[in-house]
Amino acid sequence: MSVTARAPAKVNLALVVGGPRPDGFHELATLFHAVGLCDEVVASPTEEPELRVRVEGLVDGVPVDASNLAVRAAAVLREHVGRFDLGANLLVRKQIPVAGGLAGGSADAAAALVACAALWRVRVADDELGGLAARLGSDVPFALRGGTAVGTGRGERLRTVDGAAPLTWVLATAPEGLSTPAVYAELDRQRADVTVPPPVVDEGLVAAVVGADSERIAPLLRNDLEPAALALRPGLGGLLAAGRSAGALAGLVCGSGPTCLFLVGVGDTDRVAAALGRAPEVASVHVVTGPAPGAHVVP
Ligand code: C5P
Repeated sequence: MSVTARAPAKVNLALVVGGPRPDGFHELATLFHAVGLCDEVVASPTEEPELRVRVEGLVDGVPVDASNLAVRAAAVLREHVGRFDLGANLLVRKQIPVAGGLAGGSADAAAALVACAALWRVRVADDELGGLAARLGSDVPFALRGGTAVGTGRGERLRTVDGAAPLTWVLATAPEGLSTPAVYAELDRQRADVTVPPPVVDEGLVAAVVGADSERIAPLLRNDLEPAALALRPGLGGLLAAGRSAGALAGLVCGSGPTCLFLVGVGDTDRVAAALGRAPEVASVHVVTGPAPGAHVVP
């Protein structure tokens, strides 16, 4: 019997980036929000203790060797439980754009952890699974958890924000991804002469998100990586402007980009989505709702 798990894309409603750390990561304070654009991982049994992967959907740029994040997740779980006799065939059904700033690879890793744990019938406590997730990538713990959460550290330390009412967003994806390390490096270059304060998420934004108060959320959305992403992909400035002039309350780059996120008022969704669909250099437009659940097994 195979097991299918689904995990969501994330957007950062605030991404406040501190200075670079000795380990090469940046200290962050972020408001993560999972949205209903999901990848699935189907884990099937194998005779041999091997981990193999196939990708369907948005396959460009996704490795199909041991460096694939779903394979790495399965390998880390297998090692954690000390069961090298276990194997799995993994099928990743990708809908989240690759290198899009939406943590698509992290979603695959989170879905693979959940799918393999169920396939192999191994019991791993939530905090242990979170620890394995953090080893796989900064955003993987949040892809496991889902919902809305404040992330600190390099993004792996989470405080769940309970009771957030649903919000609708429009996402515009780009035909070509951006490298996350390259965007952070550009930010460091831009800030070379600046003293960066410790990062903090505005609790006013958290309260506005809990209440789904779009008018209050709009001016508080923040992404410190945006100037770096715009420097590397100047066309994104025109896309943000196009969304705003079509009636979006706010537009910002998602994470390290190049996907852009728009907050829209009730009744304006179709007009904004249509305008973004006509904009140059847009691969796809998605109307999504958040908060979405974290990685979970689906029937
Ligand atoms: O953890 P993850 O593999 O997603 O990070 C990818 C890259 O993004 C890192 O190698 C680093 O260059 C950058 N990054 C960072 N600070 C963070 C998270 C990611 O500099 N907090």
